[in-house]
Amino acid sequence: MHSIVAKAQLSPNVTRLDVTAPRIAQIRKPGQFVIVRRGEDAERIPLTIADADAAAGTIALVIQSVGKSTQELVALKPGEAIADIAGPLGHPTELIASGRALCIGGGVGTAVVHPIAQGLKRCGVAVLSIIGGRSKEWVIFESELRQLGEVVVCTDDGSYGRHGFVTDAAKDALAAGGIDVVYAVGPVPMMRAVVNVTKPLGVRTIVSLNPVMVDGTGMCGGCRVGVGGQTLFACVDGPEFDGHLVDFDLLMDRLGTYRDFEQRALAACKDGTCKVGLK
Ligand code: NAD
Ligand code: FES
Repeated sequence: MHSIVAKAQLSPNVTRLDVTAPRIAQIRKPGQFVIVRRGEDAERIPLTIADADAAAGTIALVIQSVGKSTQELVALKPGEAIADIAGPLGHPTELIASGRALCIGGGVGTAVVHPIAQGLKRCGVAVLSIIGGRSKEWVIFESELRQLGEVVVCTDDGSYGRHGFVTDAAKDALAAGGIDVVYAVGPVPMMRAVVNVTKPLGVRTIVSLNPVMVDGTGMCGGCRVGVGGQTLFACVDGPEFDGHLVDFDLLMDRLGTYRDFEQRALAACKDGTCKVGLK
């Protein structure tokens, strides 16, 4: 069992849970994730390791509560526990060894960018982070990223920082030059928009993909993604890929596959029944 030692609300639907997982805290690398199961009958949820404290033996999980399972997970309180945490899974981020990196985080994706920026800083790379949210209350990990380099905050409604999408600020940063690599994590339309900016400029761009995952070990095929004309598995071949090669249309399509089922599961849970069949 993995005890929850701290809980914080980062934005209206994003919660941070710090949980005990001593071995994972010691060996995890930027870009890696875990699969969490709240209890015996619970769904398996893939979550990036947003931070870790090896001395305390804890990892930070950042959860966007959008469905039944994520709502149940964020309902846990400090002192309660998660039954299983499997990991670290996936390939670590391909970090450059010197130069300047642009890290772009959209919404909850900013939590995924944080360990990448930490790793880059440790390598001596200069980090510029551009992070965005719908409005001020949706911006997360700003203070943590400010400890790692320069940060530009954007909000869709202009309520904080620069008015507009992260891609608007990214265009300006790339036009100014001196960026060796871009790491982008967030909603699929955001990552696609980033790639549309960087591809003509020939700036290498790494994106983190979040398809549906089940086992996280390459067995079920649920996390298939198209990259450079090949079918790859995000759990074992990723989750990070060369953004210039990703088939974003396929990713969007596959992400929508279980949307109806997820909505019915959530509605059923609100009705108090908490059970829904696959038909
Ligand atoms: P959101 O919709 O609130 O968007 C966050 C920011 O992304 C916006 O403020 C804007 O700056 C930028 N953005 C959004 N759409 C854009 C577009 N079309 N063009 C340019 N920029 C755009 O984000 P959210 O609700 O926090 O994010 C949720 C999404 O992120 C979910 O779909 C989730 O699956 C995905 N996600 C991805 C990963 C990953 O590893 N790739 C991890 C966690 C979540
Ligand atoms: Fe099953 Fe990747 S989650 S193959």
